[in-house]
Order: sequence, then structure tokens, then C-alpha cells
Amino acid sequence: MNSIDSLLHETRRFPPAPAFVENAVAGPELAEAAAADRLAFWGDQSRQLLSWSTPFTQTLDWSEAPFAKWFADGRLNVAYNCLDRHVEAGNGDRIALHWEGEPGDSRSITYEELTADVKRAANTFAELGVGHGDRVAIYLPMIPEAVVAMLAVARLGAIHSVVFGGFSADSLRARIDDAEAKLVITADGGWRKGKVFPLKNAVDAALADGASTVEHVLVVRRGENTVEWTEGRDLWWHDTVEEASDEHDAEAFEAENPLFILYTSGTTGKPKGILHTSGGYLTQAAYTHKNVFDLHPETDVYWCTADVGWITGHSYVVYGPLANGATQVIYEGTPDTPHPARWWEVVEKYKVSIFYSAPTAIRSFMKIGRQEPQKYDLSSIRLLGSVGEPINPEAWIWYRDIIGAGAAPIVDTWWQTETGGIMISALPGLTTLKPGSAQVPLPGISVDVLSEDGTPVGNGEGGLLVVTEPWPSMLRGIWGDPERFVETYWSKFPGGDGEPPRYFAGDGARKDEDGDIWLLGRVDDVMNVSGHRLSTAEIESALVSHPWVAESAVVGANDETTGQAVVAFVIVKASQADVATAAEAADVLRAHVAQQIGAIARPRQVFIVTELPKTRSGKIMRRLLRDVAEGREIGDTTTLADTNVMQIITDKLK
Ligand code: WTA
Repeated sequence: MNSIDSLLHETRRFPPAPAFVENAVAGPELAEAAAADRLAFWGDQSRQLLSWSTPFTQTLDWSEAPFAKWFADGRLNVAYNCLDRHVEAGNGDRIALHWEGEPGDSRSITYEELTADVKRAANTFAELGVGHGDRVAIYLPMIPEAVVAMLAVARLGAIHSVVFGGFSADSLRARIDDAEAKLVITADGGWRKGKVFPLKNAVDAALADGASTVEHVLVVRRGENTVEWTEGRDLWWHDTVEEASDEHDAEAFEAENPLFILYTSGTTGKPKGILHTSGGYLTQAAYTHKNVFDLHPETDVYWCTADVGWITGHSYVVYGPLANGATQVIYEGTPDTPHPARWWEVVEKYKVSIFYSAPTAIRSFMKIGRQEPQKYDLSSIRLLGSVGEPINPEAWIWYRDIIGAGAAPIVDTWWQTETGGIMISALPGLTTLKPGSAQVPLPGISVDVLSEDGTPVGNGEGGLLVVTEPWPSMLRGIWGDPERFVETYWSKFPGGDGEPPRYFAGDGARKDEDGDIWLLGRVDDVMNVSGHRLSTAEIESALVSHPWVAESAVVGANDETTGQAVVAFVIVKASQADVATAAEAADVLRAHVAQQIGAIARPRQVFIVTELPKTRSGKIMRRLLRDVAEGREIGDTTTLADTNVMQIITDKLK
């Protein structure tokens, strides 16, 4: 079986509003320039968007494919590009960060202040022995110091490895060891769900055997919880960074100098340390942030809700927005603390105009109901973004209607930790939007959908999503494991005989009748029902299109007659909780899927549940639901955000 059968047909269309088009940052000339000469286009973008101390003369070196070098003979300092140059250009008074703490405390920090903070931190880190090429682990809540720490590491030409604050001491230690980090930057604790969660004690546990490469632990005071102290190793941020000089000249480093390592867990094996470098990464982060989000830095207030522990926080909280001189909001806590409309309160308070979030969050707001966002004035919002999973068309419509006042364009951005920046997305002033489709590769990016044998599928067909040409922010490797890099991403379509290698992303996709791209979910999750390969995303979207349903997950379970059968897990909206019994609801929803996309996709079973298992970054872990559907013991749950969820689900099904 070569391709993935595609059954869902969503026909709603939303052309850009004339007033939006008139002021749009990206016009048709962008695509024309990229089509005329792709490499010249990237060279021009990089020169326009960044400040190079030594200009590059070569754009791409692909001679050792799949190991790429972009802008290799140029030199720049990433932190200088995100900070000092905005101050030098007279924008030092512009707010860089409006930070909102969960308990309601807040700070607004200008570019001038942020630059001074980063210089102090860089001086301190240097005194602690951090220099060019050294690794620094950052394990912090969403507080301004997280941004300062990342930029100060970058300023020194060192390499950061941000570890999400929700990870355990063991996960932290594994990442410290893999990267051989010298310094760990953490906080006593941070605020989450109305309580302080301790971080420093996890660092202590991670380092308890005294046998790691870590020389110092730098601790920000945030939670004011008591901490243990190891003399000689531990230092307070306020005793060091805040006392340091704010004079620091940024040295320029080579474009391919590593900028950061970020670990992705994936479904199997030990976490992969995805390596990103400087010039190409920053070029694409800035380019995509400016054009996809239609950024007008003088007037927009931008808010990306991701934590800096994820790639979205790296590219679209730190590097893209700051390289572009944007004003942005960062928020420490959970969306529902102390009340279910906290995010919308923050939007109103700062008059957020560009809002970038994830389908998992949008669906959880759909579940609670529109009355919550409607308590606040969201009229400042003029553009919405989505990332992380396919957005179901019905969730897209809800997002546009309820958060975007029925008018804001939505950019559904497809990309990965590995791609470093957005790859496929509508451009809001140009593209007629299709709910549920990421749509078009950005100018300068080349993607295709292939069948197993490597031939492109036709319009209207599904297959495997690949990137066919190298791109500036592509991962440069897996830290310490070049073979795994080649094997994981480049061995499916290795090229040869004059054919270039193609990057296999692990996602299924289909091209519609216009050639636009619809993501179908991870290929590992594709189901085979009576010889038809069905995507999780389409059946889930069909379920979410029923007015009762807020969220759903489908899996393929072994079936004697059909090979695999579709089994669905569904969360019902709060307002619909009492309309039917579970058995009645299951029947109605099975029939609904059959009617929406065909009898082949009709679920064998529909289970009404109150929770779905998700990773800490909000992705549904279908593997665990497959265990439930096949009546097996539940597999490894250590990467779940909430380890009780599987118990709740299995209890419910008993
Ligand atoms: C999925 C997040 C559909 C996809 C930036 C990808 C998406 C994985 C979308 C990467 C989207 C991300 N539509 N699927 N707009 N965005 N994905 O590394 O399966 O956390 O391969 O990076 O998320 O997840 P990661």
C-alpha cells in the first residue's frame, strides 16, 4: 500500500480582507523572488534581516549532504542581533517583554533594559568559566531570566540546552550528561496552578552523586521556597548577575557556531539532542516571524503562549521576535489560573494583536465554552496562529469566531523542532485560507508529498511529507550522534544517481485539488482498515465537527475481520455533558463519522472520556490509547504530562 487514503473534504474558504492585504508585510514579490533564485533569495533575506559583522560570500554548502552549512564564511553575534542593534537604532525605549507572573505580578522590560541584563549575565557566566562552545543547561520557569539566560549564553558563543521545567530530575540529568553541561541555571521554584513548584531541588537530585560535569548552579529567586545549598557550587542570580557590570562587547562568531541543543523525546529510544546553529537559524526565525505573523514592530503586541522549553519558545518567543524588535507578552503560569479566562484577561490587559498558540489549548477552551473568552475585550487581536498538531476545521472556525471576532486570519504553521522554523503556512495577506490545512510551503522552502517508492503523489492523494531542498534553519545534526541523524531523517529517501537526499519528517500529508498541503498526523499512527490507510487527523476532525465534541483521539486496534479497526476516544463539551447517555452518544458519533467521511472510517467503538493522554507539550499520545483499545497493559507513561490520566481513562472504561 503506497499512499494514505484521504476522505475528509472541507470546503470552506476565507480570502484575505482587502484592508489586511493593503498593510500586509508579505506581498506576491516574496514568492516571485524565491522562485526566481532560491539561494539568492535566502542570501538577500539574511542580509536584510540580520546584521553581519563579516558578510558571507557563500549562501549554502551542500557538498557534504545531508550535513549543510549556510552562510559559512560570515560572522555575527546572535544576541547583538536580538538586542544591541535595536538600541543603537534608537528603539531602546520600546518594550521587549511584558511579563505576567501567574500570581498577578508583572514587569515590562525595554530593549535597553534587556540588553543591559543580558550583558550582566554574560559577564557573570564568563566569570564562571563559560566560553565559546561550552554547554549550559537552563531549567527555569517562564520568567524574564529565562530569556536573559538564553541570550547571554548565545552572546558568549556558548551553547544552551533548555530543559522544560516540568521534566524530572532524571530527565534533567540525562540531558546534562549527554551535552556535558558546565553550568546549570535554575530557580528556587516557579508558579503553576496557584502553587510554587520547586525546581532547585530537582537540580540537587539530578546532581546528587557529585559525578556530573556541572561546576556551578546559578539560582534565580522566584518561588521564595526554601532550598538546600551546596557551598562552592551554588550561587544566587541576585548576588552575581545583578551585581555584574553591564558593559560587554559582543564578539562575532562563525555562522555555523552551534547556538543550542534541544532534546526531543519522540516515540522510541533515548531523547535526540537536536542541534541548531547561528546564522541560518536566526535568518529563518526572523523571516518567518515577520512574514507569517505580519509583524509591524512599532504597533503590534505579539504573544506566543509556548514555554521556552520547547522549540516554539526558542524560535517564536526568543529568537524570531527579538531579532525583529517586536514587543511581546510572556506569561508564567497555566491558562486557567486563577480563573478559566486568565489568558483572555492577559490579552485585554496588553492589547495583544497577534496571538500564537496550539490546537490542544484551543480545544480545551472549546470544551469549557465561549462564555469565558467573551468576558474580556479581545478586539485588539488581528491575527491568530496555530502550531503543534493538525487543527481540526471545527476548532479553526471556533478560534476565528470566538477569539478572532470572526475576522482574524489564522495561520496554521507546520514545522518541527528539527526544522527550527516554520516551513508550511499561509501568508495572511496573500493566501485564501482553508480551515484545517497548513496549505503552502513558505517562499524559499521546497516540500513534496511522496508515496513509499519516492514518487510524488498527485493532487487529491496522500503520502509522506518530505522537504526536498535544504533550508537555513534545518537541524545540523543530533548532538554526538551523526549516524542517528542520517538514519532517522535521511535514510528513507537517500537519493543517489544524481537525486538529492530528501528529509523525511515522519508526518503523513495529502495534496488537495489545488496542491495545498493537509497534515494527516504521524505516519506511525496511520491505521490500516481493510487495506485502506486512514489518517488519525481526518477522523478526529470528523468527530470534532459534531456539536457535542470538544476533542477526540482515534487509534487503530487489531481486528479479526478488518486487520485494524478505528477506536475513538472522545471528550464532550461541558455544555453538552447531559444530552445523551454514553451509549447513545457513541452511536450518534459512529454514524456521524460514517456520514462525514464514509463507512470505512466508522469507529468500531467510541469511548466517552474526560481526559486524553498528552505529552507535556500537549500532543496526544495515541500509543497509550492503542494499548487500552487492544486490552493490553499500558506502556511507558513517563513522558505524560499527567500520569494519572491513563488511570482515569481505564477506570472509566471498566
Ligand atoms: C506536528 C513543534 C499538523 C507534526 C513546532 C510535527 C503539526 C510535530 C503542525 C513536530 C501543524 C506541528 N499541523 N501537525 N501546523 N505543527 N505538527 O518537534 O507531527 O514539537 O512533525 O515541533 O508536530 O513537533 P515539535
